[in-house]
Amino acid sequence: MITAKTKICMVIGDPIEHSLSPQLHNAGYKALHIENQFVYVACRVDVKNIKNFIKGVRAMNIHAISCTVPHKIAVMQHLDEIDMVAKKIGAVNTIVNENGKLKGYNTDWIGILAPLDKLTTLEGKKIAVIGAGGAARAATYAIARMGADISIYNRTFKTAKALAEEYGGKAFSLDEIEKIKNAEIIINATSVGMEGKSKTPLPKEYITKNHIVFDIVYGKDETRLLQEAQVQGATIIKGTDMLLYQAMAQFKMFTGHDAPEEPMREALP
Ligand code: ATR
Repeated sequence: MITAKTKICMVIGDPIEHSLSPQLHNAGYKALHIENQFVYVACRVDVKNIKNFIKGVRAMNIHAISCTVPHKIAVMQHLDEIDMVAKKIGAVNTIVNENGKLKGYNTDWIGILAPLDKLTTLEGKKIAVIGAGGAARAATYAIARMGADISIYNRTFKTAKALAEEYGGKAFSLDEIEKIKNAEIIINATSVGMEGKSKTPLPKEYITKNHIVFDIVYGKDETRLLQEAQVQGATIIKGTDMLLYQAMAQFKMFTGHDAPEEPMREALP
């Protein structure tokens, strides 16, 4: 039962109605029988109100926060401290209230690393990241940590080049996307596919059965990229896996308990 001692955790974003985070975290609380100690809710927060929101967090002593689009960068300037990895990635998706001090972290990279790491070793693997925005920065950080051979493909070549240079990888524009055939693992970190099933960042003919294709976009239905990857015989990893593993990392930071994977996975659609 929720009591006056229950700690409040929440996800903020705009929009937020589609978020699966409340069901994921609350399923974990229930499985560990700590649902009287923690509750997890969702709040739509306009990016214009982020400063006031953080003031409210301090005033109400909110326990922990997950941040999603469009807050991951905007929130950073209002926190007391930012962990080194979040600084390097340049985005915060996790805030923990540590005795009144708000500290920002990033667990997105763990969400990308964990499902790949379960499938294969990453050291020396040729990994192509499509995109060079916030999600791509987390993906590139994760695979660089494991010693992968990195290629970045982006619509805007300049940002691909900057990201590749930061991690010792190679940069390509989307006009050269056919070169992705040489990669062993392909990670889609663009927002293409988020708006429905009609779009894909990667023409089907460049996907083979030897590829592992990870689409970090998730929605109600499987993305066109993953549907086509499956038709081509590739191994696929869905965006909900990233969501699950980044949430499991947050769960540990929010509660101090190891996250229960199966009950949390079962809470996904
Ligand atoms: P996020 O935080 O979700 O990564 P972002 O930082 O805005 O969001 O990055 C979005 C990424 O998707 C970028 O790499 C963007 O390419 P540009 O750098 O050229 O803007 C990519 N992207 C978005 N829409 C795209 C489209 N229609 N075609 C190709 N790439 C697209």
